[in-house]
Order: sequence, then C-alpha cells, then structure tokens
Amino acid sequence: MIRLKSLDPPHKGLRNALGKITLLAGKTDYTSRASVAKLQALGNEVFALLKDHTQTENKYILAPLEKRNPGFTEDYMTDHGEIDNLEQSLLDRLMAFNGEQSNDEGHQFYLDLCDFQSAYLEHIDVEDVELEEEMQKHFTDEELMEHQIEIMQAMSFDMLLLWFKYIIPARRPDENAQVLTGFKSAAPEEAYAAVLNTIRQEISENELNEILSLVN
Ligand SMILES: [Fe+2]
Ligand SMILES: [Fe+2]
Repeated sequence: MIRLKSLDPPHKGLRNALGKITLLAGKTDYTSRASVAKLQALGNEVFALLKDHTQTENKYILAPLEKRNPGFTEDYMTDHGEIDNLEQSLLDRLMAFNGEQSNDEGHQFYLDLCDFQSAYLEHIDVEDVELEEEMQKHFTDEELMEHQIEIMQAMSFDMLLLWFKYIIPARRPDENAQVLTGFKSAAPEEAYAAVLNTIRQEISENELNEILSLVN
C-alpha cells in the first residue's frame, strides 16, 4: 500500500530552493550592489521557507510523534536548534552585504552556504528515511492528512504562495494536480488564480497545461 509522505513536498521544495540559492551565490558579483540585491531577494525567500519548515516540523510532526513515541524526537529537536542558529548567522551575513565587499569575502560566504546546504541535505535525508517511516508507523494516513490541513490553515497566504513557488516545479504532475484540486475546492477563486499566476513564472506552459489537465 502506498502511504502518505508528509515530508516529501516541503523537502522537495527546499532542495529546489537550496539549489537555486547556492547557484546564484556562486555567480554573484559581491562588488555590485545590484547583483547582491538579487541574491538577498532570493535569500529572503529561501531562509523564510527554511525557518517556516523547522517550526512546522516541530509543531505538527515532532510534537505529535513525541506523544506516541516518547524520546524519539529528541535528536531531531537538537538538530533543529543548531540548524536555526546556522541559518540566522548566514542570513545576517547575507543581509550585511552592500556591494562594497570583495569577491573573496563573497566566495567565503558562498563556501559556507554550500557547507550548510550539504549538512541540511543530510538532515532531511535522515528525516525522509527514518522520521517519515516513524510517522507512518504511529499515524494513519487520515491523521497525517489532518496534520497537513492544519499546517495549511495555520499558514499565511503569502507563505503558502511561497511554498507553491518552490514545491510545484519539484514534484510530478499527478502529485501537483492532487494538491491543486484540493486547494481549488477549498479556496476562493482569486486565491486559486494567484497560485496559478505564481506557478506560471516557475514552470513551462507545457508543464502547467499537463498539470491543469489533471486538475478536477
Ligand atoms: Fe527537520
Ligand atoms: Fe524536514
């Protein structure tokens, strides 16, 4: 039986986001204010997603799991604290750039960001393998679905749009169609139109049409 994978959508979105930011950080001209501003704009989005994901995971994944399997989530909670600190220090450094730094200094930031990416990919890989399985063991698909609905309801619309922006290009058409069908039936028409507008900037017209042909 195919089980619901709660961590799959955010993790695919985050892998996409991290790939984008390390790519851009590697070709940014740190002596140019305009070039740095572009990286900062992307950084604001990527770090907002990373922060949101950790908070969501603590509250809607680890907390309920801890109740059913006491002690299991302790290491994840510790990792999350360390990850939060690393993210904050990288974000602070990124935001302090103003085009007056050298490209050598920029290169050091790029290397540290890539280091963080490696550590983060390892973290979510463990989650995808061990934590996901543990969630499936202790919760039914109906319960996992309830968590997902709670997460979406608690989120601001802007944050939801940001997640769509990075998750949709990273998943299969049938998976995207399933999410969009659910969203369309529950959200106001303007909200659905805003989501489609966001997606349109991120994937080709062909890809979008393939998804939409599967949306009910
Ligand atoms: Fe995590
Ligand atoms: Fe995660």
